[in-house]
Amino acid sequence: MAEQKNKGFMAWIDARFPATKMFQDHMSKYYAPKNFNVWYFFGSLAMLVLVNQLITGIWLTMSYDPTGTGAFDSVQYIMRDVESGWILRYLHSTGASAFFCVVYLHMFRGLMYGSYQKPRELVWIFGMFIYLALMAEAFFGYLLPWGQMSYWGAQVILSLVGAIPVIGDSLVVWVRGDYLISGITLNRFFSLHVVALPIVLLALVVLHLIALHEVGSNNPDGIDIKAKTDENGKPLDGIPFHPYYTIHDLVGVVIFLFVFLTIVFFFPDGGGYLLETPNYEPANSLKTPEHIAPVWYFTPFYAMLRAVPSKLGGVVIMGLAIAILFVVPWLDRSAVRSIRYRGWGSKIGLTLFAIAFVVLGYLGAHPPSTVKTMLAQIGTAVYFAFFIAMPFYTRMEKTKPLPERVRMCH
Ligand code: HEM
Repeated sequence: MAEQKNKGFMAWIDARFPATKMFQDHMSKYYAPKNFNVWYFFGSLAMLVLVNQLITGIWLTMSYDPTGTGAFDSVQYIMRDVESGWILRYLHSTGASAFFCVVYLHMFRGLMYGSYQKPRELVWIFGMFIYLALMAEAFFGYLLPWGQMSYWGAQVILSLVGAIPVIGDSLVVWVRGDYLISGITLNRFFSLHVVALPIVLLALVVLHLIALHEVGSNNPDGIDIKAKTDENGKPLDGIPFHPYYTIHDLVGVVIFLFVFLTIVFFFPDGGGYLLETPNYEPANSLKTPEHIAPVWYFTPFYAMLRAVPSKLGGVVIMGLAIAILFVVPWLDRSAVRSIRYRGWGSKIGLTLFAIAFVVLGYLGAHPPSTVKTMLAQIGTAVYFAFFIAMPFYTRMEKTKPLPERVRMCH
């Protein structure tokens, strides 16, 4: 088939910049497996939320005052006086929670379908760096409204740096820039939140997608679509990303926006889980809130931190809980990717892991008690057991035979 050449303006561009080639390589001639299911919506939804955060963030920055004396009032000013300021702020604050919600589901999909297995290890590793950057971005952003929870949340987390032996105390002063959290801390968090981390996040997303398009997407059956091609080398089970998946993903976008905007318009504080109640009071270094808890997306790790009696031990466990996710591609020894063809070990393991993560999230959001601490210890043990035992159960379990071609329904 002869290549169709552009004429006119696009020909002029293409002679100077590979616009058409890039569009073809990544959209109209990028063949994606035809059996994507709802779990494959979350990558494009994560991009949508990222764009929402960037745009609303830029506009919020226009009226926000990053000083210890002005920050809290400037947020009130945005909410009450700035034209459409309230919706910008709620889109941004609800967007932060939506981001984690979408990214957690996106990561769970990866675990379910073994998307991190060879040759997609780097797609997963870049994803994990995105996750780290996202956590840092959310942490720095949370100090900016300069409310009571902003202040004391940052106080708790920064004090963890102090648990590092020998250098801890001086390190925490260096990170804070002061002897207590002050306008100086707020200023550096502001510059990291609005400049440094968005650049890092954007760069990582680009690397994530380049790595993905180099090897091609996995799919719910976890079989390689490039293994069966037609006479032109086009995968038999692949369809061009554009127009098929660009239109298909719009369905996900509509459903997502329906839920997201319902929260933005009707429950912007999410009953104290999205915008925490103490944050309606200005930061006060002399008054500690009764109960300090991070926003829901950090609570599973916060529960692990509190489950360990020693502060340093808690910090190490929390760090390991994230670090272990990086090495999943090497812990999984299964001959098949997708959970559909795996044995009971993987199925029970992944289910228990998901339950443990949700239960830890609940425990981390509530004040500790003897029973809750014990449950958090069990949850932490289950969380780690899922990974540590992975090389064994994935190798020993009996897997089902893989189909020749992808299956459209299950
Ligand atoms: C800003 C955050 C992120 C964005 C915008 C993003 C974007 C995307 C997109 C557009 C895709 C292709 C569509 C899809 O498979 O859903 C994808 C695939 C993938 N992402 Fe992400 N991602 C993000 C975070 C992460 C994180 C945190 C991880 C895991 C640690 C991750 C792991 C993966 C994997 C393994 C795939 C390949 C899935 C497959 O082919 O089955 N991503 N990502």
